[in-house]
This record gives sequence, structure tokens and C-alpha cells, in this order.
Amino acid sequence: LKLSEIREFGPRVPIRYFCTLTMNSPKRYLITAALPYANGLKHVGHLAGAYIPSDIYARYLRAQGRDVVFVCGSDEHGTAIPIQARKEGTTAQAIIDKYHEAMRQDFADLSIEFDIYHRTSDPLHHETASAFFSQLEKAGELETKETEQYFDPEANTFLADRYIKGTCPTCQSNRAFGDQCESCGRSLSPEELINPLSTLSGATPIRKKTTHWYLPLGKHEAFLREWILEKHKQDWRPTVVGQCKGWIEGGLQSRAVTRDLDWGVKVPLPQAEGKVLYVWFDAPIGYISATKAWAIENGKDWEPYWKDGETKLVHFIGKDITYFHTLFWPAMLHFSGRKTPNAVHVHGFLTVSGEKMSKSRGTGLDPLKYLKLGMNPDWLRYYIAAKLNGRNEDVDFNAEDFMARVNSDLVGKFVNIASRTAGFINKRFAGELGTVGAEDQALLEQLKTALTPVAAMYESLDYARALREIMTQTDRVNEYVAHHKPWELAKQPDANERLQAVCTTSIEAFRLLSIALKPVMPALTAGIEAFLQVRPFVFS
Ligand code: MSP
Ligand code: ZN
Repeated sequence: LKLSEIREFGPRVPIRYFCTLTMNSPKRYLITAALPYANGLKHVGHLAGAYIPSDIYARYLRAQGRDVVFVCGSDEHGTAIPIQARKEGTTAQAIIDKYHEAMRQDFADLSIEFDIYHRTSDPLHHETASAFFSQLEKAGELETKETEQYFDPEANTFLADRYIKGTCPTCQSNRAFGDQCESCGRSLSPEELINPLSTLSGATPIRKKTTHWYLPLGKHEAFLREWILEKHKQDWRPTVVGQCKGWIEGGLQSRAVTRDLDWGVKVPLPQAEGKVLYVWFDAPIGYISATKAWAIENGKDWEPYWKDGETKLVHFIGKDITYFHTLFWPAMLHFSGRKTPNAVHVHGFLTVSGEKMSKSRGTGLDPLKYLKLGMNPDWLRYYIAAKLNGRNEDVDFNAEDFMARVNSDLVGKFVNIASRTAGFINKRFAGELGTVGAEDQALLEQLKTALTPVAAMYESLDYARALREIMTQTDRVNEYVAHHKPWELAKQPDANERLQAVCTTSIEAFRLLSIALKPVMPALTAGIEAFLQVRPFVFS
């Protein structure tokens, strides 16, 4: 990759411009991105599914001056964490401490800018999650059931989720766990596994009685049906609504919200010694805890973000965790008398040259490697965003295509506008812009008109369309430069004024395009702002 940084073009051009866009908008936004498990962002897949789409959306809204809080944090109670600790001969606490920091740094390196990156091991979260459980329990919204569950007689512990493995009843793969089959993706319960074995000791489990608390989803089927199939039919992707419809029609089972484990949030009841909250019960509550922590750090009030009807609550997730965000979590919120999400944006998976990314298989090229080599994260953001159209389709990363796109669109077209004109402004006119003529003005006006609908494209998460439109306009500006040939004007002794006007127009056009690109490429556009010496570009 040979990509020059924009700062190399450094002339001084004082310009001010605000393009005006108005839109009916909610009073405030709370945006969440799925809380990644604290055992490492091992591949870049997560970025396309949850973090790049949400960060662009949050940046777009912030640039419009809206009241936005964007939260995320580490999900530290996944059963994979204590299992990994055992394997590495260390403690779960050591694993989460290491990965929490590493993931925070990875996000910062990618210009993914949360207002807070919290963690579910924080005491504030334990308190919030316990109180949430107690409230549901006191209101009689939970059921208890005594059942027989698998127990490892050697390790002397119950085996839920990842602690038990076996053969998948659907695809016969032996990479099936107590919660899900790794091969076919089907969700499972331990009882369904053929030839179950403990992942802790390899022992064949025995069955033992235990009591757990359940969230009776079926009891509120009418609510869920209406909430999903009527209320959200309009603004959710049809594929997501279809999937939810299938789940509802397949029958909503009660789901256990507690586990016999020692890693997690303790169940706040005296008779629940040795039990913790199910990780999918505590993790989404992490969105609330993160908001509280943000409010404390910033002297703000968290409550309006979760209680006020005028707040738009927006979740961004990858497609594998749809069930938890469209059924389980809304049910938890509704049963406890809370506000339910306004939007759940589901994005597809990232594949590499057509292959599914996998930690275990270590699929091909990891784009994160480019970042470690010092590449501007904006190139990756641009490439991925150009493939996100707001539908939950998979996105493919292909290294050659990536370089071609970056070199042709960003370097060849966009940066090229500045590289062909800014030098003249600097060298010939001491960095001062000139007066533009009628023909130049027409280009700028046309550009502003064409870029105005880009805001609505960001709003509807069709980043692919927004970037296509911006690139079409970039082509127009390049045509203007090619037509007026500043390099030839520069050779004519009497064309000084014209040269200044053409270069001024081009720089102004470049600035307008930068405003439109800003949510996708924050680092590049910050560089342009510094180089043009303008106030931060505002998309409003
Ligand atoms: N901890 C849960 C989320 C709890 S939210 C209250 C989790 N963590 S994860 O680390 O496995 O995934 C984090 C995010 O990345 C999720 O939104 C998930 O859907 C997404 N993706 C994980 N692998 C992915 C790809 N290969 N491609 C795109 N997104 C993917 O799930
Ligand atoms: Zn399977």
C-alpha cells in the first residue's frame, strides 16, 4: 500500500462554510454496540457486524449536533472465559483484565469512539444487574423450576453452555456445545446433545437435581407478537422480522436466567447459593450500567436515556445475536416496566475472500494486521462502509479489492483534488483563497444540492449509497479540474486570477466532500480540517 497522508499537502486556506440540513429528530439518542466477550477481538469480523456501523451512525448524529450517548463495554461473564483461564493455567480475572484493556485499545486504534467503554465485572454493573433480577423476581415475573441437569462428578460442578459438548442432533458434528452447535449454528440445550461429555474433565456427566429461575417468554407472547410483528414491522429489516416471526410461531419457551456456576453476577437470593445470573441476562443490562457509569464520569443524568419516551434507544448487533436483542432483552425490559428498544440494527457477517471468518480456523488474511503495520484505520472503515447498505447481508473483505478501492477512490479521486490544486494556492497565492466566478459558483451550488440527501442515507444506514453518491460528486469535481487544467493556467502569465479561482473552487469542493465523508473517515477528515485550518466540519 502506498497511500500518502493528506497533511503532506499543507497550504493554509481559511474558509468557513456550513451546509444546512434539517430533519425531524428525536430529543436524544442512546446508541449501543454489542458488548464483545472479553477474550479478545481475535479477528476483524466483529467490526463489520457491530462496531463500524454503529460508530458511523453515532458520528453522523454527533456532527449534526444531536444529543447522543454511544456506549459499549466488555462482556466478562461468558463461560468461555473461565474455560480459557483453566486452559492457560491462569484466573478468569487475569483473562478479562488483559483483554478488556487490549480491546479498548483496538477500538481506539480503529477510531471507534464510544462515549464510554465499560465492563460487566464493574461493581456498578453487578449492582444494576442484581437489582434488575430482584425487581423481576419480586414482581412475580420469574418462574422457578426444579429439573435434572448434567453434572460432572469429577469436577464436582454442573455443566451448562460451553461446559458440555457432544454430537449435534441436527448435523451430527462433534463440535456442538450445550448452548450452540459450532458447525451448523443451531441453538441447543445440553439435553439435546448426543454422547455428552464434560469439557472440564472429559467425564461422562451424570444427572442431578437443581432449581433455576426462568423468564416465561410464552406468557407474554401477545406483547412480543404485537411489539415485533406490528410495531416494528415498518422499520426492521424484513429478514429480521421474518426470523422473529419464526421463533414466535415455533413456540416461545421459558428461558433459564440463572446458572450453577461461580463466575458471574451472584443471584441475589439467600436460597440461590452457588448460582449466578445467566450471561445473556446480565450482559444487555450492561448497556444500562455503562450509561450510568458515563453519567457519573460526566456529571450527567442517566435516567432520561433509559426512561424518557423521547429518547431513541438504538442497538447495533451482528446477526448471530438477533434472538437476544429482539426477543429476550425486550421481554426483560417490558416485564420490568421499562422502555423497550426503538431500533435493533442487525448487520451481516464479515467473510474474507468469500470464506467465513473464524477464530479457531484462523481464516486467511486478517485486516487487523494492516492496522498493526501502521495503516490509516480510515481506509478499512471506508472499504467496509462502502459495502454496508443497511440490510443484514454478509460483507466480504478481499485484500486486492481493498487496495484497488482505496487507491482508486480515496487516493486517485478524493485526495487527488487537493493534490492537483492546493499546491498552487500555497506557492503562488501565499495560502490565500481568491474570488470565484459564476461558472465556479455553479459547480459548488450543484455540489451542495447533490450532497444534501447524503444525510438521509447515513440516517437510514445505507452507507454504501452515501459513499457512492459522494464518489459520483468527487468524479464531477475531478472533471472540473481536468477541464480547467490549473497546471496549464499556471504557465500562462495573464491567467493568475483564473488559476486562483479554479484552485479556490476545487479546495472548497474538496472541503464539502470532506464534510460528507467525515462520519466514515474521522482521522482523514481531522487531518484535512487541520490542513485547511477550518473549524471542525459540522454536518448540519
Ligand atoms: N458478548 C456477546 C454480545 C453481548 S451484547 C449484550 C457477543 N460477543 S462477541 O464478542 O461474540 O461478538 C461481538 C459482536 O460481533 C456481536 O455483535 C456479534 O454479532 C459480532 N460478530 C461476531 N463475529 C462476527 C463476524 N464474523 N462478522 C460480523 N460480526 C460478527 O456476541
Ligand atoms: Zn449442528
